[in-house]
Amino acid sequence: YGDASQKIDYVFKVVLIGDSAVGKSQILARFARNEFSLDSKATIGVEFQTRTLVIQHKSVKAQIWDTAGQERYRAVTSAYYRGAVGAMLVYDITKRQTFDHIPRWLEELRAHADKNIVIILIGNKTDLEEQRAVPTEDAKEFAEKEGLFFLETSALEATNVETAFMTVLTEIF
Ligand code: GTP
Ligand code: MG
Repeated sequence: YGDASQKIDYVFKVVLIGDSAVGKSQILARFARNEFSLDSKATIGVEFQTRTLVIQHKSVKAQIWDTAGQERYRAVTSAYYRGAVGAMLVYDITKRQTFDHIPRWLEELRAHADKNIVIILIGNKTDLEEQRAVPTEDAKEFAEKEGLFFLETSALEATNVETAFMTVLTEIF
């Protein structure tokens, strides 16, 4: 989980986007600090956390930006996307609406971000399988059509969170 004395070869900015309460902040907490909280508060404005990893013998500082899903708490869009080389588009597998809004988030992303940005679609909360409202196949199909990577995660159980970040960071690399 990072080493301050390390020399940094690359800094990669990755942004998290998606509706409120899908688990963006907890995915970040899991990745950056290996923590999880069930009573996570809605994000206001922008927060970011970093973690330094070694990828192909180079030290890469991942700078992960997190903003509010709620419109009224959101930061200035253009500043948020500026310089981002990766994006994680998150929905909640138990809330169909959060998946139905993905095309809008993708539109915003494509309007403001660099055209070469690496994008992964993430269906979070797989620990709530009995409440699933979005079939894996639907999301997979959408991701293929749009040329996105795709994974389902659980920030709570720490399933695939590491893999999701590694997929993006390795592809950027
Ligand atoms: P905004 O900041 O409002 O945009 O929301 P967010 O996307 O950052 O959601 P947040 O990470 O705050 O999580 C919302 C709620 O979902 C919290 O109660 C979390 O504990 C819960 N949550 C997040 N990830 C998971 C998960 O993988 N499984 C379960 N069961 N709950 C989760
Ligand atoms: Mg949040």
